[in-house]
Amino acid sequence: MGNVTDASSALEGRAPASYIEVQHSAPLAGEVVVPGAKNSVLKLMAASLMADGIFEISNVPDIVDVGIMADLLRAIGLRIDIDRAHSVVTIENRGELTPVAPYELVERIRASINVLGPLLTRCGRVTLSMPGGDDFGSRPIDMHIAGLKAMGATFKFGSGYLEAFADQLHGADITFEFPSVGATENLLTAAVLANGTTTIANAAREPEIIDLCEFLQAMGAEIEGVGTPILTVTGVQQHDLHGCEHETVPDRIQAATYIAACAVTGGSIDVLNARPDHMKIVLARFTDMGMKFEPLPYGLRVRAPERLRATDVATLPYPGIATDYKPLIITMLAVAEGVSIVTENLFPGRFRYVEELQRLGADIRTAGHHAVVRGVPRLSGAPVESHDIRAGAAMVVAGLAAEGTTMITGVHHIDRGYDNLVGRLSAIGANISRVDV
Ligand code: UD1
Repeated sequence: MGNVTDASSALEGRAPASYIEVQHSAPLAGEVVVPGAKNSVLKLMAASLMADGIFEISNVPDIVDVGIMADLLRAIGLRIDIDRAHSVVTIENRGELTPVAPYELVERIRASINVLGPLLTRCGRVTLSMPGGDDFGSRPIDMHIAGLKAMGATFKFGSGYLEAFADQLHGADITFEFPSVGATENLLTAAVLANGTTTIANAAREPEIIDLCEFLQAMGAEIEGVGTPILTVTGVQQHDLHGCEHETVPDRIQAATYIAACAVTGGSIDVLNARPDHMKIVLARFTDMGMKFEPLPYGLRVRAPERLRATDVATLPYPGIATDYKPLIITMLAVAEGVSIVTENLFPGRFRYVEELQRLGADIRTAGHHAVVRGVPRLSGAPVESHDIRAGAAMVVAGLAAEGTTMITGVHHIDRGYDNLVGRLSAIGANISRVDV
């Protein structure tokens, strides 16, 4: 029977049906350490395609997506060692690259689109299956393509694949209509080995973009304007680039997850390695809800009131409130005193988890890209499903505030982006356990 189960889950392409069980929890207390950012480390790994040498990336979160990215990069020709005990990934690039990213790997992870810029600029061509990732609506890549075309690339599309060609990319002046994270990253990496100077105006300036710029600079790239909306990249020669060491920036979304967990239990915790300077606006909104924050030398002290207050929130590109925080924020507001309006400005379809919160007794109505959240005094536990990484974390947070037991399935989504969420929460007093079937 065991074999039958294994075969069927392999056919479905996912791990056996693990679940997380959460019970109403007393106020959380203690210390939690925030790991490195998923949305940075995956891009750093992809950027190591660009130079021959050894790369040592530290503060790497122990998450499934790192393993998937490693498999993709190994298929392209890199040697990768993941030292989970020390949170270090070592990558050896010997320049023996096959610039093909196959469907089986690409469809599992959105960040696979980040091999496009590095492979095109380095190898002059790339064949890439169109990327997958989180299930929250259509995620076009037209800005990536238009920018690379302006730098001299040509494209062919067919059978779910894109092929890109460029004997030698050249610099260009590019202005984005919208500061896309992924498009900024692809054009930035492509520009590093292009002929001449590239400017990217209205560039994204998330902390993870700054992290990528610093990684590229350590590798030998010439980039100005890091952390501003105008990035200027002066192309260098292949032999100017080399391996490097780099520490991944802490994950602001994981930090917010522990803050949200503390918030709904009325707790008091220290979130070590959190970077309040990367979370200014979201912390301001949490303060509006009644939370108190105090910076620590390496993190943030967090205190929550007995009951949160309602506030209005809109997602925007950085330094605005990231869309990835939103499921956590809606969960906090679901148990706050009063009525809140939450507006999604990045991914219109990203409200799917609301139905799951409603199953727990939350009073939330959505209309277009708005959600009206009427706070209720308490939620009640029920079986719910996690449809993407952040929605899964939000279910866990909701479970802490719900009477009775909340059983969360779809745990494989949470594993993509959270490094031991259950262990970290349980260490600060959450009533939570994980069952691996
Ligand atoms: C990244 C993050 C994701 C986060 C998002 C916004 C990774 C792996 N994912 O995604 O967790 O939610 O930033 O902070 O880092 N768009 C276009 N055309 C394009 C590119 C984007 O229309 O060519 C649109 C998208 O559909 C979306 C918006 O721009 O509506 C934001 O996308 P973008 O900033 O590119 O996000 P990602 O890089 O995909």
